[in-house]
Amino acid sequence: MEPIGIAVIGCGSISGVHLQAISKIESAKLLAVVDIDKSLAEKSAQLYGCTAYTDYHEVLQREDIEVVHICTGHYLHAPMAVDALKAGKHVLTEKPMAESDAAARIMLEAAETHPDVQLGVIFQNRYNPASVMMKKYVDSGELGRLICLKGMVTWFRDPDYYETEWKGKWATEGGGVLINQAIHTLDLMQWLGGEVASIKGSISTDSLEGVIEVEDTAHAHLEFQSGATGIFYATNSYKTNSPVELELIFEKGMIQLKGEHLYLEQDGTLSLLSEPTASHLDAKSYWGLSHGAQIEDFYVHVREGRLFWLNGPEGYKAFKLVMDIYESSRTGKRITYREPAVRN
Ligand SMILES: NC(=O)c1ccc[n+]([C@@H]2O[C@H](COP(=O)([O-])OP(=O)(O)OC[C@H]3O[C@@H](n4cnc5c(N)ncnc54)[C@H](O)[C@@H]3O)[C@@H](O)[C@H]2O)c1
Repeated sequence: MEPIGIAVIGCGSISGVHLQAISKIESAKLLAVVDIDKSLAEKSAQLYGCTAYTDYHEVLQREDIEVVHICTGHYLHAPMAVDALKAGKHVLTEKPMAESDAAARIMLEAAETHPDVQLGVIFQNRYNPASVMMKKYVDSGELGRLICLKGMVTWFRDPDYYETEWKGKWATEGGGVLINQAIHTLDLMQWLGGEVASIKGSISTDSLEGVIEVEDTAHAHLEFQSGATGIFYATNSYKTNSPVELELIFEKGMIQLKGEHLYLEQDGTLSLLSEPTASHLDAKSYWGLSHGAQIEDFYVHVREGRLFWLNGPEGYKAFKLVMDIYESSRTGKRITYREPAVRN
């Protein structure tokens, strides 16, 4: 069987993780990379043995390209995804779906009107062994009812990080720590905690005032439809990238994640369930190690013609929570969902 033809749009920071992962997947062949910065496109093309482009529209015309990865700034995800879906390409976009709710909905609509191709959203941390293990504990009911969850992201981004054309601005990034960094943790919280019933939160710019328009700090209180409560805090104003912390308290035990260390407390005994595994990708540790697993899973679904589980509606869930924290912060009001925030 011919390998699946792949193109990657955007050859910036995250692209190396995608390119390395693709190069290790036998069922796929990287055919093209695109960046408006010609030297970046050419560097990646040389490294991975494919053709460099500066205009993604040219790549969309190539019949041998079936899957397009979107690795550009947030404001470019929706227009690129819509163009690619219309051109009959499967799309795997980096998180978050878009920079605004309107743009994300346009993507969802485009995916719905082109059911012959798939839209996948990168949330690689759902593939971490520790995340998979936590999900199994929740679903099995072994520890009884989930009572509450806590998510903490205390990271560091200095002014230099925001020296790009799109970061730190509402119009192009769509927000700060919430939409860019902590969306992964909110995603795990809603994946593990289930449908959210209401959320109240607020944002502030504590350490990067005058450097960025967007927030560097946020917190939220979530009520889940199951009756569980969630507490969430995120900041880019710490001095280091501490391991992300997630805590799930059940009737009959507790699970604590610290980075990739997963602990279980049951019957008064604390045990280590999972530890970090060696990285096979040249990635920053706080990005996690699971891009390769998600990318390969997406290709398997594309090849077999099965609907990918981390699709548009699924990727929209954490995005919607981010949008709702912004709205709650603006209005000072709790946002209540009378029906599911998003349907699959
Ligand atoms: N999943 C993760 O853990 C993770 C980690 C880091 C970044 N990301 C996401 O990856 C995406 C990219 O982030 P980044 O840090 O790599 O950004 P970046 O700014 O480093 O790279 C973006 C690249 O897109 C290129 N570009 C801009 N306009 C283009 C166009 N019209 N056509 C082709 N290329 C164009 C830029 O020249 C740049 O090289 C974002 O959505 C970000 O949130 C995800």
